[in-house]
Amino acid sequence: PLVSMTEMLNKAKDGGYAVGQFNLNNLEFTQAILQAAQEEKSPVILGVSEGAGRYMGGFKTVVKMVEGLLEDYNITVPVAIHLDHGSSYDKCKEAIDAGFTSVMIDASHHPFEENIETTSQVVEYAHSKGVSVEAELGTVGGQEDDVIADGVIYADPKECQELVERTGIDTLAPALGSVHGPYKGEPNLGFKEMEEIGAATGVPLVLHGGTGIPTKDIQKAISYGTAKINVNTENQIASAKKVREVLAADSEMYDPRKYMGPAREAIKTTVIGKMREFGSSGKA
Ligand code: G3H
Ligand code: ZN
Repeated sequence: PLVSMTEMLNKAKDGGYAVGQFNLNNLEFTQAILQAAQEEKSPVILGVSEGAGRYMGGFKTVVKMVEGLLEDYNITVPVAIHLDHGSSYDKCKEAIDAGFTSVMIDASHHPFEENIETTSQVVEYAHSKGVSVEAELGTVGGQEDDVIADGVIYADPKECQELVERTGIDTLAPALGSVHGPYKGEPNLGFKEMEEIGAATGVPLVLHGGTGIPTKDIQKAISYGTAKINVNTENQIASAKKVREVLAADSEMYDPRKYMGPAREAIKTTVIGKMREFGSSGKA
């Protein structure tokens, strides 16, 4: 069933595992992620960036596509549809009105007081509809769609505590050195801050830029209160690699089902691997 993230993340935090947010790019991504979740008996968060939402037709199309698959695939595990990096109150409201069960308001690039104000407005509307809210502090490096960073800024633990207390968000993404897209070298995550922020705020934490983070760092992050890990690029790479391989092997192939089908399998395999790594398998 479609649910908000609140219960799944609180359970994950208490249980010492993390729920994956896997981003949707098209129908095949959605199918693969839902099939993986059902097979693994894992809760799952479907992340939709504004850009991916536009690509798929709009928020309403996304919600109806997901709802259709939940029925056709007889999905029984908890599923959240989450706006990833919502850029404004209006975008968050649009997603909520279309049927999203969770939103992220990313006002992290605005001054602190403005971040608090915008986030509070989103929380007020979202909570009145039973929708969960994620906010961000600091800067995640790299680029994802419209979200482009010049550098990495680590979140400040004091500000994190204040943001959580003054806004009533359900979960917080403190940027602590993670990057959207592939890493150049090993990531250098601020675990000291993560531990401090987890303890000071009490809310489950979110780790963006999940692609390419070594397993030991994933485990450390979970032990410091990270209960949600976002992955997009890794699935995109797996899918593109498979399409290249299949088309290169047969220059006569033109039926999209013949190359997107294998790509869908590659995404599913990748997602299953992440669910096992994050410890969410068998938790639904
Ligand atoms: O918001 C989405 C994620 O942070 C995805 O990051 O593409 O590096 O896995 P990634
Ligand atoms: Zn992100």
